[in-house]
Amino acid sequence: MIPDQKEIVRRGYDKLSYAYRSDETPDDHAEYAKWVSILSKRLPKGALVLDLGCGCGLPGTKLMSAEFDVTGVDFSEVQIQRARKLVSSARFICSDISDVEFPSGHFAAVVSFYTIIHMPLGEHRGLFRRIASWLRPRGYLLAIVGHNAWTGTAESYLGVEGGKMCWSHADEATYLKWISESGLHVRWKCFIPEGESGHTLVFAQKPPVDEGR
Ligand SMILES: C[S@@+](CC[C@H](N)C(=O)[O-])C[C@H]1O[C@@H](n2cnc3c(N)ncnc32)[C@H](O)[C@@H]1O
Repeated sequence: MIPDQKEIVRRGYDKLSYAYRSDETPDDHAEYAKWVSILSKRLPKGALVLDLGCGCGLPGTKLMSAEFDVTGVDFSEVQIQRARKLVSSARFICSDISDVEFPSGHFAAVVSFYTIIHMPLGEHRGLFRRIASWLRPRGYLLAIVGHNAWTGTAESYLGVEGGKMCWSHADEATYLKWISESGLHVRWKCFIPEGESGHTLVFAQKPPVDEGR
């Protein structure tokens, strides 16, 4: 457990926002367009999508908001202020993910890229239960989670002096168990390499209402 983990992450992204992603980040940055296309193939235009830990909105929230009705959540004021300017077609909530509530069955999809790994580990399992409740029947979860279990801090993340950052995550098998326990069916998962390590991208779906009755 890292003392003050959330405060370190929130302040860290306030400070590191531009180092992490510039205003000029192109739509084809990394693999976001490919990930968004996973939803594009399955959801109608205008579907309600929740982006947990949306950051400054580039490129993921922006790409999704070209097709869907997107709500982004992030607790860094700098990230959210930038997102409101950079992605004017989406709506944004500046809040800790652990504090937001949505009606049950509200969203067609919930995405979370590189964010759950920053949250205190003790909150991950419960978050999947909350996400499952917000999804409508047959709704999708597309999330980046840990591949190998790791908890740690960096004092100058991305080379920014004083840019302290921390992470805590379980391993892939644990996430697959927690996601299944939340009532979602894991459709597939894949490894997303980063340097000498990497993360797991999980695609899961809420079953239809009558399943299991
Ligand atoms: C690594 S960035 C990823 C941003 C964006 N999803 C992307 O892939 O470009 C992680 C983001 O999650 C946000 N975040 C981390 N923990 C959070 C929490 N508990 N509540 C809300 N936002 C959180 C951070 O402020 C940061 O903007």
